[in-house]
Amino acid sequence: MTATPDKDAFLAAVRESATAATLVRITLGKYRGSGDAQKIVATPVTLKGAPQLKFVTSHARKDTTQNYTIGDAVQHLSSLVGADYLSATLFTLSEDVTLQFTKKKATTLTRGKPTFSAVPEAAHNRAKNYIVDATKPYLQALGVTQADGTVKPSMYPKFKQICHFVEIVDQLIRESDVKSAPRVSVTDIGSGKGYLTFALYDHLTSALGKDARVNGIEVRADMVALCQDIAKRAKFNSLTFEQALAENSSSVASDVIIALHACDTATDDAIYRGIKSEAALIVVAPCCQHELAPQLASATAALSGITKFGLFKQRQADLVTDAARCLLLEASGYRVKVIEFVSTEHTAKNILIAAIRSNTDHKAAARAQFAMLKTEMGFTTQRLATLLEI
Ligand SMILES: C[S@@+](CC[C@H](N)C(=O)[O-])C[C@H]1O[C@@H](n2cnc3c(N)ncnc32)[C@H](O)[C@@H]1O
Repeated sequence: MTATPDKDAFLAAVRESATAATLVRITLGKYRGSGDAQKIVATPVTLKGAPQLKFVTSHARKDTTQNYTIGDAVQHLSSLVGADYLSATLFTLSEDVTLQFTKKKATTLTRGKPTFSAVPEAAHNRAKNYIVDATKPYLQALGVTQADGTVKPSMYPKFKQICHFVEIVDQLIRESDVKSAPRVSVTDIGSGKGYLTFALYDHLTSALGKDARVNGIEVRADMVALCQDIAKRAKFNSLTFEQALAENSSSVASDVIIALHACDTATDDAIYRGIKSEAALIVVAPCCQHELAPQLASATAALSGITKFGLFKQRQADLVTDAARCLLLEASGYRVKVIEFVSTEHTAKNILIAAIRSNTDHKAAARAQFAMLKTEMGFTTQRLATLLEI
């Protein structure tokens, strides 16, 4: 550890600004250590009501995160600056302070006008302790955040949806066999613009430290090209996107299958792929359930009071379709949870079906319930049942 008056002054400025809540960020560069670390960015967070500094270290293939109390953060910085990192800049609301070391460990300390005039919104985001770090560059590339790492006001609902999704999957992983697996393969069917695909990849690799391979399958070539480009720029090397129809995709079996708002029976194709892969976790948010509505027209007389109203008939078709999917998952050896995904304020398509592979003894009962549902509701064809030959 190299102590110099310049370094002491730099660390004192860190301590003072962190204590006064005027610290915006610290960046460490010119890495000269022996590992594959690149830059470090430290930003303020509030954890359990106490101010801390969150250090995010960029590595070639992933980012790692550590939180420190202010005292520990100053000590940690002291051990890094002048050793592994030859350059450090502190951004506060009153000044920018840069400490440079030459290879021979001579130091210069420069103080300049502040770059930031306010603690960015992103710091407040982190203070709320969102599971997704809004300062990650991929979120800017996807148009969710701005150059300073703050969430665009118009994208707050999307950002909150991304956070909620990651929280849900994080919890489901803890309940499944994926929890203890160092490697995990994920297929996201109908990945669209990839908001959730990117956030999940980042969470699996950065926060959970897994060797994750995530593949998005999407029929739209423009979306695939966009996502491939952003993944490359973010150095998310094991995040890939394939242009294909869910039912035709060549991608291999996966531990986790995701399909969020994949249209109509693409959800059934996704579930089927999961069951056939013996995936540990299948997570789908169905939408546009068109297959059953015409069949419910001939439903039992008792249901005609519902199905004669167009909107209720569609709602009934949505409900019956999703219940059928849940029962078929149970019949295939999964424990099923139905969760409200996003607030109805944002979309009516707010049901998330989560299936965790487990040693259940209710397969036969679920199969019988599915048969009963089919008879009582009057439908004859349901894609997942057809695929499963049930
Ligand atoms: C409503 S978007 C959802 C995107 C993303 N999953 C999300 O939740 O943000 C549905 C996406 O699924 C794609 N899609 C629909 N049917 C598909 C199929 N059979 N195979 C592959 N992609 C499909 C659409 O092109 C669209 O991008």
